[in-house]
Order: sequence, then C-alpha cells, then structure tokens
Amino acid sequence: MSSVLQAAKITFRAADIRSELYDQLKRPLHDLRISVIDRCNLRCSYCMPETETLKRHSFINADKRLSFAEIERLVRVFAKLGVAKVRLTGGEPLLRRDLPSLIARLNNIPGIEDIGLTTNGILLERHAAALSQAGLHRVTVSLDALDKTRLAIISGGRADKEKILAGIDAALKHNLAPVKVNTVVIRGVNDTEVLPLVEHFRNTGVILRFIEYMDTGTISQWQRSSVVSSKELLQLIHQRWPLRAQTQNYQGEVASRYIFEDGAGEIGFISSVTQPFCEACTRARITSDGKLYTCLFGKSGFDLRALLSAGASDEEITNSICGVWSKREDRYSELRNGTQNQTIEHAEMFYLGG
Ligand code: GTP
Ligand code: 5AD
Ligand code: SF4
Ligand code: SF4
Repeated sequence: MSSVLQAAKITFRAADIRSELYDQLKRPLHDLRISVIDRCNLRCSYCMPETETLKRHSFINADKRLSFAEIERLVRVFAKLGVAKVRLTGGEPLLRRDLPSLIARLNNIPGIEDIGLTTNGILLERHAAALSQAGLHRVTVSLDALDKTRLAIISGGRADKEKILAGIDAALKHNLAPVKVNTVVIRGVNDTEVLPLVEHFRNTGVILRFIEYMDTGTISQWQRSSVVSSKELLQLIHQRWPLRAQTQNYQGEVASRYIFEDGAGEIGFISSVTQPFCEACTRARITSDGKLYTCLFGKSGFDLRALLSAGASDEEITNSICGVWSKREDRYSELRNGTQNQTIEHAEMFYLGG
C-alpha cells in the first residue's frame, strides 16, 4: 500500500489542552461522554443482542438517572477541570425526553466548545430541528448496512433504513455538521456492505467511518475472527477509490482520516482492536445513573450521583473527579492480547455509552 496512506502519529499539543489534570500515563482530561439513557429502540447484535440483553441486564429506572440539572452541574465542574468536548450518548439518547433542553443548558457552560450526539438515527428526523436550535453542534449516526436484510439481521429486526437516511438528511439540513456515520464491520455479517456504503456517502458531505468490532460488554458473541481490520478495509476501498491520509483534527481523535483523491469527501477508520489509541485517550464517561468511568472497558465506576445526592459541594465533586483521574492507568485496548478476552468483566457498551 502506498506510503501516503500511513496516518500521522498523535502527540499532545499543549495549545489544545486546557486541563492541568493528568492521569498516571500523562493523559489530560479533555472529553466527556455522557450516556443519558441505557435503553435503546434497536437490538444490535454486537451491543444489545435481543435474546441476551434482558436476561443479563436490567435497565436503569428513570428515577435513578441523573437529572438534567445534575448533568449540567457536573459538566460545569468538568469544564473547569479542562473538559472542552461533550458527547451525548445512550443506549439511544433520543429516547430521553426533552433532550434539547439539556443541550441548551450545556451550551451555556463556559469552556464547552463542542457538543456532539451519537444516535442510531431512527428518531433523528423528528428531533433534528429542535436539537440544532438548542445548540447541538453535530451528530454521528450509526448505520451498519444499506441492504435491508443485513440491516435487519444486525439490528435485531428493528432498524428502519428509510428513517435512518431521513435522519441523516435532516441533520445535514439543520447543519449538525460535520455529520458522521459510524459502521461497525463484522466479518460474514456486513463486510459486503462496505463498498455500497462508501459509494452511497461519497459526495454527500457525510463522513463515513468504519469501526473495528470490539469486545465491549459481556453479552455480545465477540470473536477475534469476526474483526475486519481497518487495514483490510483501507486496501479494499483504496483499490476502488484512491485515498490519501490526512492529519488528525485534534490530538486523541479516535478515527484515522482519509480523503478521496477525486475530491468526493472524507472517510475514517476507528481501529481500536488492531491499532489501539489508548496512549492519547483523554475521555471520561458518565453513565445515566451517574457513574464515572475512565475506560470503555471499565468494570465499575465512581458514583457521582451518590455524591450529588449527599449534598456535596462543587469543591468536593472536583476533588473526587481529580482523585479518580489522577489515579487512572487504563489502557485496555493496548493490553488486549489479541485472543478472545471475554473473560475479563466489563460494563456493557449501551450502559457506558460507546
Ligand atoms: P468525534 O471524533 O469527536 O467526532 O467523536 P468520536 O469519534 O469520539 O465519537 P463517536 O461516538 O462517533 O465514537 C466512535 C466510536 O469509536 C465509538 O462508538 C466507539 O466504538 C469508538 N470509541 C470512541 N471512543 C473510544 C475509546 O475511548 N476507546 C475505544 N476503545 N473506542 C472508542
Ligand atoms: N464494537 C464497535 N463499535 C461498537 N458500537 C457499539 N458496540 C460496538 C462494538 N462492540 C458503536 C456503535 C455506535 C457507537 C455508539 O458504538 O456502532 O456507533
Ligand atoms: Fe442501540 Fe447503539 Fe447499542 Fe445499537 S449500538 S443497540 S443503536 S445503543
Ligand atoms: Fe481509552 Fe480505554 Fe478505549 Fe484505551 S480502551 S482508548 S483507555 S477508553
């Protein structure tokens, strides 16, 4: 493969990082991913498989969720500690009632420069205008296949291609840009969808990103042999539509970026299995019940909601977050030994918010 396809290595540039809070591996705290609900209207086989989910997981009751006021308060504290990027996730975040009002609250917080939303797109057409008006900057939509049979297989029969595409169009219309589409590629399930998806989104302004299938959670049937590496996909796509590597937009960006040589736009690859990016991981996650996790593969989280309920001051909350982050040593994906790793217990992706 041509050397122009080699992606640039990440280094932290002091100018982009406001945080003075570093973990044990000298990684600053910069991004906060907030899961607002652990429920979802789809049942993706790699995340929430229909037959297993309710047997092995009970969803969080609405009264145990952080309220919007509590989320706003936490984000104010995180912003003072250097967080500039917030991403709302789920489950499916658009199932949380009145989400635009949360976005409006977050949009007023000094230091928060970027508010994104990761959604499966089913409800996006309905909500795009209100989300944009509330101050949401951009959305990322998950779509794993254009072929209806394959999409049905992967989503537990629940995804609706027309609704998802209408959601993406609505996001473009309301300038929730750059609009990105995430595709998890699973060998033998949707790898034949890669070229059709690229063809569909070329020249649309949408940035399509292929994600290597990860061993998140404990209820998906992940196997190393089901992972399609980004390298393989890159070769496949490059043969058909030549690509050129781009530098990263910011340090710690999870996707390696490429543009089409013919000017048809950008695509990306998220290679957390074959090329882990832990060394630049600046992400903290909060679950809908207020647990702070410092890794997507964490086993347990620090209970911020309990602190809030006990009437903790901002200073006490700040100290707790600093304590957790400064002890952080997580680098699960770098330590993953390349074999099946499901014996290590970790929280589910739909609970942690991806
Ligand atoms: P931007 O780059 O700001 O657009 O957002 P993003 O790419 O971080 O957000 P998105 O929710 O689209 O993340 C894409 C996917 O990358 C996630 O759904 C995960 O599958 C994966 N991912 C994101 N962050 C991490 C991480 O910290 N560790 C690992 N292993 N995977 C991650
Ligand atoms: N491997 C890779 N990506 C996953 N996602 C969910 N589960 C997995 C997994 N096991 C992705 C979804 C969505 C985001 C929230 O996380 O496709 O884009
Ligand atoms: Fe729902 Fe996203 Fe999980 Fe699919 S990947 S089941 S859309 S939370
Ligand atoms: Fe960050 Fe954990 Fe993902 Fe590594 S595996 S990039 S430490 S969230």
